[in-house]
Amino acid sequence: MKDGKASYSAEIIAAMRALESRKPEHLRICYDPYARHLIRSRFRKVAQTKLITKLIYWFVERKGPGLPAGIAARTRYIDDIVKQEVANGTKQVVIMGAGLDMRAFRLKELKDIPVFEVDFPATQQLKQRKLESIELPERNQLHYVPIDFMKDELSEVLAKSGYDHSIKTLFIWEGVTMYLNAESVDSTLAFVASNTGTGTTVYFDYLMQSVLDGRCNYPEAVAVRNTASFNSDGVEKYSYGIEDSSVEQFLSQRKFKLLEHMTGESLKERYFHGENAKRYVFRICGFVHAQIQSQV
Ligand SMILES: C[S@@+](CC[C@H](N)C(=O)[O-])C[C@H]1O[C@@H](n2cnc3c(N)ncnc32)[C@H](O)[C@@H]1O
Repeated sequence: MKDGKASYSAEIIAAMRALESRKPEHLRICYDPYARHLIRSRFRKVAQTKLITKLIYWFVERKGPGLPAGIAARTRYIDDIVKQEVANGTKQVVIMGAGLDMRAFRLKELKDIPVFEVDFPATQQLKQRKLESIELPERNQLHYVPIDFMKDELSEVLAKSGYDHSIKTLFIWEGVTMYLNAESVDSTLAFVASNTGTGTTVYFDYLMQSVLDGRCNYPEAVAVRNTASFNSDGVEKYSYGIEDSSVEQFLSQRKFKLLEHMTGESLKERYFHGENAKRYVFRICGFVHAQIQSQV
């Protein structure tokens, strides 16, 4: 990522959610009515007719097979975790690398609890500029917390923002770890494991290590290796992966226990039925919901 530039990948993800949200209710996997207002107007304009929307899907599927369905399913899965965790007593939510995430506004479960959106300052400024022109429900306890995960400590930035380390919290890291490095992932998880209330959980997803090192040859893995994000230094670069067979061990070494480990296949099985059963969901990421181990 170039210094001071807002995240392009955040816009791409919001564009995927905008596309999904145009589908009729019985067909869409996730729903984000705000996403279309957050993407650049060039993207917004092109999706105005059914024919052009079809062409966009065709084009995106060529560039990243299974990307639209995978992003929609990931968002839906996390929405379900938020609902479940709030019902189970979560008292605050930290969204790390929030990008253009609109959960704080679109999920009624989050209406009355503090939400901390942690991201690059440039991405946050872009989002705040865009939000100025949208009509939004009232939201008092939304805190924007600037960070560079590669340079700053989560403990320090959250300490200045009103974060309460004694209550049950949900940390969400959607589509972010792949742009970081082992040191920043570990220090963030170390903070979560020891500076939060009992029962705290974390959601994160990861790129399979086999995608990065060339062992995985699914078409979407090959597409990832062919993109600028894989090869170039000038953009957000895929730089971090986890061996999917070692997730439980990865978590226990970092003082977490696995609650659920999903794959593209299991997300497809859970959410894609009827007409949606033919949609292709990418298989290059793992999706993890884990809980901190009890401190006694
Ligand atoms: C693919 S986007 C995902 C955005 C959002 N979580 C979503 O799913 O819509 C990646 C996000 O990670 C953030 N990010 C990447 N590297 C980061 C870093 N070193 N420090 C802080 N944020 C970072 C980007 O600014 C961007 O918002």
